[in-house]
Amino acid sequence: MKHFLKLLDCSKEEIIGLLDLADQLKQEQKAGITHHMLKGKTLGMIFEKSSTRTRVSFEVGMYQLGGHALFISSKDAQIGRGEPTEDTARVLSRFVDGIMIRTFAQEEVEKLAQYGSVPVINGLTDFCHPCQVMADLQTIREKKGKLEGLHLAYIGDGNNMAHSLIVGCLKVGMCVSVACPKGYEPNKEILAFAECYGDTFTLTEDPSEAVKNADVVVTDAWASMGQEEEHQIRMKAFAHFQVNETLMQQAKPDCMVLHCLPAYRGEEITAELLEAHADEIFEEAENRLHAQKAILVKLMGA
Ligand code: CP
Ligand code: NVA
Repeated sequence: MKHFLKLLDCSKEEIIGLLDLADQLKQEQKAGITHHMLKGKTLGMIFEKSSTRTRVSFEVGMYQLGGHALFISSKDAQIGRGEPTEDTARVLSRFVDGIMIRTFAQEEVEKLAQYGSVPVINGLTDFCHPCQVMADLQTIREKKGKLEGLHLAYIGDGNNMAHSLIVGCLKVGMCVSVACPKGYEPNKEILAFAECYGDTFTLTEDPSEAVKNADVVVTDAWASMGQEEEHQIRMKAFAHFQVNETLMQQAKPDCMVLHCLPAYRGEEITAELLEAHADEIFEEAENRLHAQKAILVKLMGA
């Protein structure tokens, strides 16, 4: 594995290998065992969108691994004034040992990997959010003891989170059902991928159908970063797609609820349901640290 750009590029074995390493690193960190596997290494982190979890977990993760992280905001860097990604990639590659980027177009991430000479990690694009889904899989496996055969239902926008969940969950042998309003379905490339999995993938416009007998229910913001102007239209379109107590009655009694955060209470999820599943949701947030440390070690380690 040279880069971590999207889960479509990863095999089942690579995903499981990263999850095993993430569990190991989590245990070591909790036990106070030093694991300076990236001593002396630097990660450059380019942000063209806001972030709390991604920035802090990568920065802390590099520190815990004995390395260093550099925060590069496009508000201040030349990339925000139009310096080509091709040049940024070649310049940064001469200073740092790896690059993490959060941006809009997936093509930018791919370009960075193509022109640079160091590993590139996708910290979210409009197309996908692979680091988040590694943390989600780690959390599910931790709580349920397995992944294979579990049923995950995703309710809401067919966005970056939906895309990575569909690919990641299907690859590790889970069943996935997705409920989206008409016009907000996952993109064609992802649906074509999912079709290869036959009955283990279903797409519907009915949230209660998707949630039936689910082991895990996941939702995400109705308006993602960059879609702020569509907020009002989206509130109407998604009105019947809220994850709440009534919807959860269709799921298995021990069903987990996950949310990548930030959450918008009263929109995609009720405050009550979020609080009822806070243990799972904040463990999921913590697991960003452990899952990404595994990715960093795999790509930048000796
Ligand atoms: N879930 C997630 O990626 O959070 P941030 O936007 O805070 O990084
Ligand atoms: N779909 C959301 C995820 C935020 C972590 C967004 O792209 O804004």
